[in-house]
Amino acid sequence: MNKTIALTNEIQIPQLGFGTSGLKELAQASVLHALQTGYRHIDTADIYETHTAVGAALRESGLPRQDVFITTKLWRHSVTADKVAPAVDRFLNELGTDYIDLLLIHWPREEAEPEETLPAMEAVRQAGKVRALGVSNFDVSLLERSLKTGIQIVNNQIKFNLEMREDEILAFCKANNITVTAYSPIRSLGSDAAQTLLGELAAKYGASPQQIALAWLLGKGLIPIPRSTKPANIEANYQAQQIELSAEDAAALEAAR
Ligand SMILES: NC(=O)c1ccc[n+]([C@@H]2O[C@H](COP(=O)([O-])OP(=O)(O)OC[C@H]3O[C@@H](n4cnc5c(N)ncnc54)[C@H](OP(=O)(O)O)[C@@H]3O)[C@@H](O)[C@H]2O)c1
Repeated sequence: MNKTIALTNEIQIPQLGFGTSGLKELAQASVLHALQTGYRHIDTADIYETHTAVGAALRESGLPRQDVFITTKLWRHSVTADKVAPAVDRFLNELGTDYIDLLLIHWPREEAEPEETLPAMEAVRQAGKVRALGVSNFDVSLLERSLKTGIQIVNNQIKFNLEMREDEILAFCKANNITVTAYSPIRSLGSDAAQTLLGELAAKYGASPQQIALAWLLGKGLIPIPRSTKPANIEANYQAQQIELSAEDAAALEAAR
């Protein structure tokens, strides 16, 4: 039941992903449970220290590598031109795989400008080690600079939930064919008004407020990546894909600020 979104003509990303920050010693079991539940998109990052657990869970699941979409991110110590390729080789080794589906710059920082990091990322993409490139936590001005490099950026991963609504970045990304991943999708459920409405909609759809929040993000075309260590929550978040909010209910949530 995984809906996908096109990153390019050839590459699709499953719209719902599973986040892996802060999972610590529960990472492998949580990712394995997510894969067994049906998730086919795992979000990791060097700084989360979950590459090894993700790779182990993937092997334990028995799923073919090509059935699971893996995103990872370059942390601040790996964004200078000389550091990108060795970092990617290390990631592949940690993950136990020979390619990464989507590689992101984790945070814009003064260690290296996107004009330096993106060409080094493009070189590893052309070497076949990475399928697609993107960024994370980039505002419109950084996205504009990134686009000027001429290197194809297909995703911007930003905090997006009922409290934090980056409408300007979302509009810019849509206009420039950059998909948007919503991190921390349920960490905040928004204002009092939004939470009251979420409660009403949860009762109406026979769902939890978190599931309604995820359904709202999915309906907006975002790519939410909730994380959980609890099997019941992992499953409930996956089931949110089956909830289709009416246009009226989605608009009411949009207005509840
Ligand atoms: N690019 C970036 O800079 C960046 C930054 C932050 C996060 N991320 C990515 O985004 C992922 C998700 O973000 P996040 O971990 O900040 O927030 P989140 O997934 O929105 O929220 C996680 C919290 O919600 C709880 N939870 C999960 N499902 C639930 C449910 N159905 N009902 C009630 N509670 C539920 C979890 O607790 P339980 O474990 O107890 O279920 C956990 O405390 C991360 O894992 C990471 O992959 C990226």
